[in-house]
Amino acid sequence: MMKKQMKAAVFDGFDGPASVTVDTMEIPELKEGEVLVKIKAAGVNPVDAVITKGYYKNMLPHSFPVISGWDLAGTIEDRGHAARRFSVGEDVYGYARRPEVKWGTYAEYIVIPESYLSKKPVNISFEEAAGIPLAGLTANQGLFDSGNLQKGQRVLIVGASGGVGGFGIQLAKNKGAEVIGVASEENSFFMKQMGADHTIDYKKQDIGTAARDIYEEGVDLIFDCNGADSMKQSLKALKPGGRVVSTLSQGEGIDKHINFSFVFVEPNSSQLDELRGLADTGKLKVEITRSFTLEEAPEALEQIQSSHTTGKMVVIP
Ligand SMILES: NC(=O)c1ccc[n+]([C@@H]2O[C@H](COP(=O)([O-])OP(=O)(O)OC[C@H]3O[C@@H](n4cnc5c(N)ncnc54)[C@H](OP(=O)(O)O)[C@@H]3O)[C@@H](O)[C@H]2O)c1
Repeated sequence: MMKKQMKAAVFDGFDGPASVTVDTMEIPELKEGEVLVKIKAAGVNPVDAVITKGYYKNMLPHSFPVISGWDLAGTIEDRGHAARRFSVGEDVYGYARRPEVKWGTYAEYIVIPESYLSKKPVNISFEEAAGIPLAGLTANQGLFDSGNLQKGQRVLIVGASGGVGGFGIQLAKNKGAEVIGVASEENSFFMKQMGADHTIDYKKQDIGTAARDIYEEGVDLIFDCNGADSMKQSLKALKPGGRVVSTLSQGEGIDKHINFSFVFVEPNSSQLDELRGLADTGKLKVEITRSFTLEEAPEALEQIQSSHTTGKMVVIP
């Protein structure tokens, strides 16, 4: 029997975003516990660009050709043996980081264990839903699992107008925390829209000093989504005993007395269930600032690696 085929944005070596091209791939056979999802939208994340340059080649096995992308929203089209959590025709979303880098989401279809997926929020579009999983889970795991952020506490989010930071502001506010967002001046309005109580422009202000001007006694948590000098600058705003959680820095050069942790986002469908609840009740908004076709994947990857994307971007296969 002829195997079913699909279009996908793939790369065949670690030659960067420009080497990603649209190709035809065979859709794998469904195995036990797996579902076939028709992808309606794929979220774009900085890691998608980083992966094309081989940054994770020693950490995660890769099998070429690799399909880009780890975030998806789509519809269940078929189910393998014992895969019965979802019905055929049901809409789902998920963060599809597998142990091997191979079957990504910038594609018409994906075959994936159903455990990676959660029901899609019904009150938002496929594009918006595809923007949530990786960045939303990172914010959730960074703020709460690693950062232990509590109601009434104060958090400084560095890089607060991008994917992770935008969700970070909203999740922290939903928890009842007070939030300072750090990004450039032009994104100050965006951060306020997401719910930030205060904003700091890292280009014009010393972050730590500006944060101390806002909260003299300092902040309980610094959630760093930038990793460079801005995080180091922010440290003087940390209360004694406060925590620092970073999505990028592994803590090099940080005083060992500081409670520091690096977060590497894990797939987690029960947390996606919680994020769905927030999205469906309007408590988690997704601002899609640009969408791309599969053929435009290199452009999407170039833009996301600039570190200056506002909100989320998606690829529509
Ligand atoms: N470890 C993990 O599991 C994990 C998961 C997700 C993401 N990440 C990493 O976390 C970072 C953020 O991801 P993202 O998806 O939110 O990226 P993004 O959408 O590109 O957002 C980047 C943010 O950083 C800000 N920024 C840029 N330069 C800055 C500087 N010098 N100081 C302070 N802020 C600055 C940008 O604001 P302006 O545009 O106003 O400059 C924007 O708010 C990326 O590097 C990504 O690779 C790691």
